[in-house]
Amino acid sequence: MHPTAHVGVTGLAVMGRNLARNLARHGYTVAVHNRTPARMRALVTDFGHEGTFIAAESPVEMVAALQRPRRLIVMVQAGQATDDVIAEYAPLLDPGDVVVDGGNAHFADTRRREAALRERGIHFLGTGISGGEEGALDGPSIMPGGSPQAYQLLAPVLNDIAAVMPDGARAVAHLGPDGAGHFVKMVHNGIEYADMQLIAEAYHLLRHAAGWSPARIAEVFRRWNAGRLNSYLIEVTAEVLAHYDADSGLPFVDVIADAAEQKGTGRWTVQTALDLGIPVSGIAEAVFARSLSGHTALRATGAALPGPAPTLLGERDAARFTDQVEQALYASKVISYAQGLHQIQAASETYGWNIDLATVAAVWRAGCIIRAAFLDRVRDAYTTDPALPSLLADPGFAGEVGAAQLPWRLAVSHAARDGVPAPAFAAALAYYDSLRSPRLPAALTQAQRDYFGAHTYRRTDRPGTFHTRWDTDRTELKSN
Ligand code: 6PG
Repeated sequence: MHPTAHVGVTGLAVMGRNLARNLARHGYTVAVHNRTPARMRALVTDFGHEGTFIAAESPVEMVAALQRPRRLIVMVQAGQATDDVIAEYAPLLDPGDVVVDGGNAHFADTRRREAALRERGIHFLGTGISGGEEGALDGPSIMPGGSPQAYQLLAPVLNDIAAVMPDGARAVAHLGPDGAGHFVKMVHNGIEYADMQLIAEAYHLLRHAAGWSPARIAEVFRRWNAGRLNSYLIEVTAEVLAHYDADSGLPFVDVIADAAEQKGTGRWTVQTALDLGIPVSGIAEAVFARSLSGHTALRATGAALPGPAPTLLGERDAARFTDQVEQALYASKVISYAQGLHQIQAASETYGWNIDLATVAAVWRAGCIIRAAFLDRVRDAYTTDPALPSLLADPGFAGEVGAAQLPWRLAVSHAARDGVPAPAFAAALAYYDSLRSPRLPAALTQAQRDYFGAHTYRRTDRPGTFHTRWDTDRTELKSN
């Protein structure tokens, strides 16, 4: 067979199928393959009119259909399934071909796979793709990592299918070598968890402290979406809260079991942050809140514990409280982005990725789940100063968060007083206050460590490492 396909997609579950359709709609001839051929045939039957597909019944047929250098996009589950597909295809490919992993892979796996394929002269592009099934079809945000040569082979294709930003640019950029793209996608998801948790806390406070109905809270979110919180997730929230269950007639949010699930990218973000020593407390609280929600038996045990009765607010107070919650939500959101970007910065240094945070913020502006108007300003902050130590070091964001601090504190204390859990709001505020504090109680922690374990400490008044003999009160200089 004369190879005519510009690109191949293997793995045709929802994301793979829609990505293949997106490619075909942009004029690419797409060879498609799926382990269960029925899925591949259904794609060609149902959507064949959208472009040119080549049905590949096997990896051998897929490889034979692809023009050289071959471009193969793998859209299967992260983990073993991805390794299996790569193991199947690698012997069939030639040096110079490129394999793209478009799944939510762990960046360490991507590093391993990239190195293994490089030995055979095959390029590997670990590529985060965000936007859900709709994004895959109409334009996702794309976060590729790999060698510049690998990226060059895919750049025109990815550029064509990526989301279009308000300024006309495409939501795709080469983020760095090997695992850089999947790392950025992982943190994107960690931030996604934090965004969702913060929104959930805002909703919960308005529901249980202000005593408002979901429909009324939907209006609040709609209003917020017209301001600085403008984002896809706020928009989705307003739609969900305004929705009623057709069967029961109840607010939809009330008929859903309150036990959140996760596929694991948020957990990876926190695990990786722990390894890097980067405090991502807002993201961590979001992950923990999901897991706590799922501990049904534990929660049943806790249901008998005492707590305050919420003091429902009158109309005037409720309006003021809504403003406080908006400020708390915005400030906490800035904190979770600051934490996630700090984590990317640290990983970039550790792995020598040289990731440009302005570019990261830029590709998150369209197509992805965390797309938000304020990301324009995040990009601008890092364009002005690529070495910004924190988003909170940017005068614009520092000013905004500083201006929000009082209402933010009031929202958090209101939550504590009324017994409404707001762990991510509180963690974000504690992070902010920790950054601000000229002295932290870590001095006491160090003294304790030295007391019980001779772990030594440094002093504020002279250089060196010291240990105090607590029985004789003698201080010894251990090293300079
Ligand atoms: C995206 C999403 C997508 C998915 C995540 C979250 O960027 O398009 O992040 O990757 O929704 O897997 O799923 P969980 O909430 O199940 O972890």
